[in-house]
Amino acid sequence: MSEKVLIFDTTLRDGEQSPGCSMNLQEKLKMAHQLERLNVDVIEAGFPIASDGDFEAVQATAAEIRQPIIAALARTNRQDIERAWEAIKNAAHPRIHTFIATSDIHLEFKLRKSRSEVLEQSIEAVRIARDLCSDVEFSAEDATRSDIDYLAEVFEAAIENGATTINIPDTVGYAIPQEYGPFVKELISKISNRDKARFSCHCHDDLGLAVANSLAGVESGCRQVECTVNGIGERAGNASLEEIVMTLRTRKDLLPYHTDIVTEEIYRSSRLVSNLTGAFVQANKAVVGKNAFAHEAGIHQDGMLKHARTYEIMTPQSVGIISSTLVMGKHSGRHALSKKYEELGYQLSKEELERAYFFFTKLADQKKEIYDEDLITIVQDGIKTIPDTYKINHVHAAGGNQGLSSAVVRLARNDETYVASAHGDGPVDAIYKAVDQITGLRGRLLDYSVNSVTRGKDALGEVFVHVRFNDRNYTAKAASVDILDASARAYVNAVNKALYEKKQDATGQRPESVSAEPQKIPHKATGS
Ligand code: KIV
Ligand code: ZN
Repeated sequence: MSEKVLIFDTTLRDGEQSPGCSMNLQEKLKMAHQLERLNVDVIEAGFPIASDGDFEAVQATAAEIRQPIIAALARTNRQDIERAWEAIKNAAHPRIHTFIATSDIHLEFKLRKSRSEVLEQSIEAVRIARDLCSDVEFSAEDATRSDIDYLAEVFEAAIENGATTINIPDTVGYAIPQEYGPFVKELISKISNRDKARFSCHCHDDLGLAVANSLAGVESGCRQVECTVNGIGERAGNASLEEIVMTLRTRKDLLPYHTDIVTEEIYRSSRLVSNLTGAFVQANKAVVGKNAFAHEAGIHQDGMLKHARTYEIMTPQSVGIISSTLVMGKHSGRHALSKKYEELGYQLSKEELERAYFFFTKLADQKKEIYDEDLITIVQDGIKTIPDTYKINHVHAAGGNQGLSSAVVRLARNDETYVASAHGDGPVDAIYKAVDQITGLRGRLLDYSVNSVTRGKDALGEVFVHVRFNDRNYTAKAASVDILDASARAYVNAVNKALYEKKQDATGQRPESVSAEPQKIPHKATGS
């Protein structure tokens, strides 16, 4: 039997903290459930000291997710560690993950501490953590640029004082595999109590080498890999979970290791991350990109038809991309839809199926062919957890290349409807200005993107927006066959998120940020 490599997923911590990838509590929980289905060994749920929102998300994840280990990040000080423990103490399998930098450059310029001070602080932190929790991970930030003998000394002391996992991050993505592999091997050999801990690698992708470095780490003795779905993370990202897992699975001949990942859940996990964050997956991305299994060249297609293995080193089914047996269209009923979702791997409750069916029939009226991606979008997007404070009744916008564009928007809130019109630099800008007039919020659009979910002229367009209301940023999305409609819905979804958070703030959990009532009602419409 090959040796097991644990998959430590940090999508909700290192991934989520990267620009444009933030998720709210419901979204984090949705992702955590998907990670549980993916069967990761560890979910790093967040950094509880960072904010009250982070703390709540980690706490909720710890309460709901029972199978994987739930890790919480903490710097090497009592306050951080106690806060991390407070968030995860009710988890079925809690882990405290504490870290401090060990490279001279970080010690001199960031921490302003000597090597012996950092060593002492590490020991003290591991002791505090170990008093609270039997599972303690210790990471040396910027390990790959640290002096190897000093690093070995710090790690040995951490193990001596109770650390059960030792993580060797390539924090700045500087290492290359021919260097990282031997570095890890030599480092481990220098640690006399190495048999008392599991070693872990955590590589960033600044030079596009995070996956290669992680695999080199595994070959040199790491039995845990830290990674994220779609490789999201700080700067260029972290090592991509799906690439590591599928490399280990596909190249068993050279890499005699296995993971317990349910690979058929990979594609759904990938879609969920991009749906929740708006961080699109490039078409040619390994394993989960739109084109990862598309064979375009005639010679390739010919080979594929004769024997799939001519050009296919892994099957789309193995990562959960199902080739359809049921074609969905206007006349498909609930039963067929439910069967189709089963085929796609979704077990929908009666209510979820009802809601999905509602969105499905709306979509089927608008487009001829409904693809699997459409159905996944419906189920991940249409079944919402944030209440619709404002609903769109009507949007009309006109633009062109001559002068200002204009828009008329009608929104409903409770039983009232509100209408506003505005001019803008383009129809989307005009729509957003009209929405702002109604809600009284002033959104600053930080990012806007449109992506086609499927193929053809009537493809679903997915719009993602990052909007700043007062001092907080919100990510929201919407899909429609009409991109102006999708643009309006995405923006109103961001408004609803902001208002929902405001409601939560009112319970005293978070600082005030957004005003909840329309400040100025431009024109209250009668009827709907
Ligand atoms: O990249 C890094 O060094 C980290 C640590 C906190 C593990 O994310
Ligand atoms: Zn990191």
